[in-house]
Amino acid sequence: SQNIILRDLAVPRFFGAAANTTFLFHDVNYTKVIETQFSIFTPENEMKWESIEPEPNGFDFTAADEIVRFAESVNAKVRGHNFMWGNQLPPWVNDTLSATELDRALKNHITTIMDHYRGKLYSWDVINEMISDNTPNETFKDNIWTQKFGEEAMPKALTYARAVDSQPKLYINDYSIEGINSKSDALYSVVSSFLADGVPVDAIGFQCHFTLGQIPDTLQENLQRFADLGLDVAITELDINLMGPSNATALEQQAKDYWTVVNACVQTKRCVSTSVWGVSDDHSWIPNGSVLPWNAEKQPKPAFYAIADAFEGK
Ligand code: G3I
Repeated sequence: SQNIILRDLAVPRFFGAAANTTFLFHDVNYTKVIETQFSIFTPENEMKWESIEPEPNGFDFTAADEIVRFAESVNAKVRGHNFMWGNQLPPWVNDTLSATELDRALKNHITTIMDHYRGKLYSWDVINEMISDNTPNETFKDNIWTQKFGEEAMPKALTYARAVDSQPKLYINDYSIEGINSKSDALYSVVSSFLADGVPVDAIGFQCHFTLGQIPDTLQENLQRFADLGLDVAITELDINLMGPSNATALEQQAKDYWTVVNACVQTKRCVSTSVWGVSDDHSWIPNGSVLPWNAEKQPKPAFYAIADAFEGK
């Protein structure tokens, strides 16, 4: 296993992980894995609004810069995450601003951060989780952005981002859109209308927070239909929750599931990357799900070898 380097097997695609400054350089074995196995990183929390602009026009790039510098040091790319989301917003954004003030704050947020990282980031999740879970009755999620801007929310953020820097790929990132279903259908029509209206968007991120044995059958077909719109697609936050004990049977099923997802990306020409959401089971946002390809001892699990096989076309 020491000789298997997933980032090499993934070429021409990127293999990525959510990177977290809580563990980077603090947990030695985590750091060893993260230094060698990945060619693209997403800051797990460090670029979210509450972290990076906790006060109006008061930016703190410390933790985010740490990840960008680390990525440069191992010759990996960075996916910015994120600009428009209903969660992890500081109180000043969430409740006190008029629509005009919120618009100004959004534009300033995007402009300042993209200026700071000009030339350094591969992409931005400009939009995160803005499609409703109640489609088709409702298309957009009810949050501060849609309350103040209605259906202009997403186009505003995308347009501001493109105006600052035309280099980074602009992503719409979401969950429960991995298979063909009512939510991915809603996204598909939203994105189609953006393309028709000239709203800038380059790619769709499919989060892929999955449960053991429940990978949607239509994953590959769904990636392909978005790719056929002329967009890049990416697996952005893959993890697979065992929902029970980590025994041999469960770990084998988890390996199969990882293979299925990575293979769907490999079979899709426009799929540019597969990223896992974390590295090892002990540092996941899901504490007891054994969700990742490395265990708490930072040893590769069956899922690790399955990812290697999928990238190798086996
Ligand atoms: O930073 C504070 C710290 O100061 C405080 O002492 C501590 C006590 O609770 O909380 C810390 O903040 C936590 C933060 O992670 C940093 O560790 C938050 O409570 C916690 O809610 C937050 O969780 C993150 C979550 O997004 C927030 O919504 C997870 O780490 C992160 O993995 C998760 O990532 C999201 C993606 O951004 C979008 N897609 C879904 C994905 C999983 O939920």
